[in-house]
Amino acid sequence: MSPLTELAELSRQFEAEAAEVADPAAWEELRIRWLGRKQGIVRARLAAFKEVPPEERRDYGQAVNRLKEQVESGLADLESRLTTAAVPVVEAVDVTLPGRRPMIGSIHPVSRVAADVVEIFDGLGYSVAEGPEIETDYYNFEALNFPPDHPARDTQDTFFLRDERLLRTHTSPVQIRTMKERRPPIRILCLGKTFRHDNDLRHSPMFHQVEGLAVAEGITFGHLKGTLYAFLKRLFGPETEVRLRPSFFPFTEPSAEVDVTCTFCHGDGCQTCSQTGWMEILGAGMVDPRVLEGCGIDPDRYSGFAFGMGLDRVAMNRYGIPNIRVLFDNDERLLRQVKR
Ligand code: PHE
Repeated sequence: MSPLTELAELSRQFEAEAAEVADPAAWEELRIRWLGRKQGIVRARLAAFKEVPPEERRDYGQAVNRLKEQVESGLADLESRLTTAAVPVVEAVDVTLPGRRPMIGSIHPVSRVAADVVEIFDGLGYSVAEGPEIETDYYNFEALNFPPDHPARDTQDTFFLRDERLLRTHTSPVQIRTMKERRPPIRILCLGKTFRHDNDLRHSPMFHQVEGLAVAEGITFGHLKGTLYAFLKRLFGPETEVRLRPSFFPFTEPSAEVDVTCTFCHGDGCQTCSQTGWMEILGAGMVDPRVLEGCGIDPDRYSGFAFGMGLDRVAMNRYGIPNIRVLFDNDERLLRQVKR
C-alpha cells in the first residue's frame, strides 16, 4: 500500500472509530490512540515522512496535515456532544399546575391611621413637622415646663441615654422646635415614634404619637374643642360622642383628657372600655404662656392649643387588635387580615 493510500485508509478508520465512542472514557482512549505523543497514529505518520520517496513528500505532507486536522476537529466535536448530553434532560413542564402567586403587601394599621389623621388635618390647613427621636432634656422636658426633679417627669418613664440625651417620651418636643423656628400663625402636625419603659398588653416601649399645635392671635379653648370634635368624628365616625375631662400637663393650661364613645359597644359598656362606655384617646390643652415665652412668642399677643394622641391605640381599636405587640411582631398575617 502506498503511503498516500494508507493515509486515506486511516482517515476512514478514524471516522469509523469515532462513530463508536459513547462516553468520556472511550473518547479519552480514542484521543490517546490517535493524538498520543508517544505512540499516537498521527505522530507516527508524521515521523514516517522521511521514509517517503522525495517526489511524493509534498503530497504526503499535505495529506498527513489533513488527517491531523480531521482527527483534532473530530475529537473536539465528539467532546462537545458528550458534555452536552451529560446535562440531565428537564422533565416536561406541567402547565396545569397552579402558579406561584407573588405576595402583595398591604399598609400597616398604624400607617393607615397616620395617613387618615394627616388627611383630616390637611383639610384644616395643618402641615407635617418632624423632630429627632433622640432628644435632649431641654426639648423633652425643660422647655415644656417640667422643672428639674418635678414629679411630673415620673409619669414619662424615660429611657435616658448618655450626655443628657434621652429617647423622646412624646412628640411634644416638636412643638418647641417649631415655635423656636417659626413665627405665628403656626398649624402643624407631628407624627412619629416615641419611647417609654412600659410593656404590657396595651403598652409597648416604642409606640407612635401624633401631636397637633396651633398658635395665632385670638386662639381660644373653643377652637381646640371645635377642632377635636371635627377630627374625632371624622376619624371614628359621625355618631361618635366626644367628652373633655379636666386634667394636667405641665405645658398646657388649662388641660384636658379627651374621651370618645367606645368603638366596640358604642357607649353601652364592654370589656374594652371597662364598662364605662368611653375610651380615653388623647391629651390636650391651651399652650402654657410660659412655654410660649420660652420660645420667644409673646403670650400677651398670641395664644395656642396643642393635643397629643397615641396612634397604636387607635389602630388597635379600629382593627380589633387585643395586644399591642401584634403591631410590631412583623407577622405578615396581620397585614393580610387588615387588608380591605
Ligand atoms: N405629650 C402628652 C403626652 O404624651 C400629650 C399632650 C400633648 C397633652 C399635647 C397636651 C398637649 O402625655
